[in-house]
Amino acid sequence: MKYIGILILLFSALSCNKSDSTTIVQNMASNSPNPVIPVQTITDKINQLGDPSKGLNIYLTVLDNNKRACVNCHLSTDGFDIMFFGKTDPLLQDSIIIERAVFNPTTNTGHISLQDAYHIAAYFKQIAKNNNIVSNGNLPIIPIPKGQSPNQVWNGSTALTENQISGWNFRDNISINFSFPKWFSGDQFNNKAEENLDFIPEIDLLTAKEGAIRTAYNKYLNNPTKTELKNVLMTVQNTLTDGERNPGEHGYNDFNTAFDYARWKAVLYFQHIRKRNSDLSFGEEIDTDISEFSLADALWDVGNVARRSQDNGSNVGNGKDIDNRLLNEVQWLYLGWLTNFGKRNSFESQYIGSALKDFGEQDLASLVILRSLVSRSDHSQLLYDDVYTMSYITSDNKLYESLQFGLNYLLNGIKSGNSKFKLLKADQIRNTLDNLKDNKASNLMDNLKSKNNLSATQKEMLNTLIEELYMLVYNF
Ligand code: HEC
Repeated sequence: MKYIGILILLFSALSCNKSDSTTIVQNMASNSPNPVIPVQTITDKINQLGDPSKGLNIYLTVLDNNKRACVNCHLSTDGFDIMFFGKTDPLLQDSIIIERAVFNPTTNTGHISLQDAYHIAAYFKQIAKNNNIVSNGNLPIIPIPKGQSPNQVWNGSTALTENQISGWNFRDNISINFSFPKWFSGDQFNNKAEENLDFIPEIDLLTAKEGAIRTAYNKYLNNPTKTELKNVLMTVQNTLTDGERNPGEHGYNDFNTAFDYARWKAVLYFQHIRKRNSDLSFGEEIDTDISEFSLADALWDVGNVARRSQDNGSNVGNGKDIDNRLLNEVQWLYLGWLTNFGKRNSFESQYIGSALKDFGEQDLASLVILRSLVSRSDHSQLLYDDVYTMSYITSDNKLYESLQFGLNYLLNGIKSGNSKFKLLKADQIRNTLDNLKDNKASNLMDNLKSKNNLSATQKEMLNTLIEELYMLVYNF
């Protein structure tokens, strides 16, 4: 019932909004006593009036009142994503293309003329048909991990090995109790188009930052390879101001804009992965050394802006949290983390750990910290931060064995002469010593003192390891 009601609403909304009525009653059988009145659907109109050969050019080049073409926000080179993540019902799919495409002066929504919208819709239908693109009803961009609960994977009662941790299958076999951001947040009826739990941003970086990003993106359009993709992402990185990248600092507090800029990068990254015959898979990198830059920053950064809207925003009087802050934080950080499991040096376990814990996923957070620890890039302070993070994120039942493993992993690494573990910068060494026991406000050793679930003997054993690690780091 609800479905039919909404359908009627949708069609009546469509027919009043458009300058050209979308429902045409033809008076074909007027001399018959009981005239059959065929109703022309929106699909019929697209088939009749749309010229598919004109659509791509319109998608790429026809500008709306704000000087933006469809491609500015949707970003795929041919618009396939609109069909791929589209509605399963073809009539609804056609309707929503026309509805979103056509400029409506009353609501100031939409972008182009009705005639151009028919061409675009006809073109989208054609690429879908020619390439066997079947709308998936806007499923999450990668399958939601299902399988064992984090506690089934490891409940803290047994000693851990590095191989065991590296074997944990977070993408396919460890369940999570949240979803990933959808491509479009609108449902079949697109009545949530304004909310911020989806990929597609309301503002785009091309028009916001005319210049280098546009040049790099045009190169990508001409030659959409993963190398050109990386070039655009790096150009964005180098073009955004410090504040836009790290809102809440540098005198920049516009979290919503920074969030949309970050989502724009995420759209660019993921449409590339999802397109047909893509040369890039989820989590794949071009560079072996991703300590300073990773393609996956495009995902992580969205969650990080959400996090900052609290940590560097509402918590310190710099404005308020973005909408759906924690959900956005946990979804995007976890999606980003699943690419390389913390190999990227800026994927801090304190951030993803806190987000997961706040979301009620403390056991998953405990596993994530361990996996990050064994995945880190060389010379990373985060190797040491991870062990400190355990003292305030890890579940009680997993704390002792996590720390046993973590501290020994670091000690053995350093003692074996593996340069991966060596910190090269004075500030990294200082921070690590602070986190181990020097920082008066909070440090690993002090945090353990208050843990009631650790026995005196366990605390003593861990303290011995902490002291030993402290001396080795001190002597780097
Ligand atoms: C300013 C950025 C921007 C531009 C330009 C833009 N769109 Fe969109 N588009 C969006 C956003 C944001 C959404 C909403 C996503 C959602 O549902 O959450 C959207 C949604 C859509 C949808 C709905 C998809 C679905 O299944 O829910 C279609 C279809 C669409 N756009 C087509 C177009 C076409 C065609 C053009 C060019 C004529 C265009 N858009 C231009 C940002 C843009």
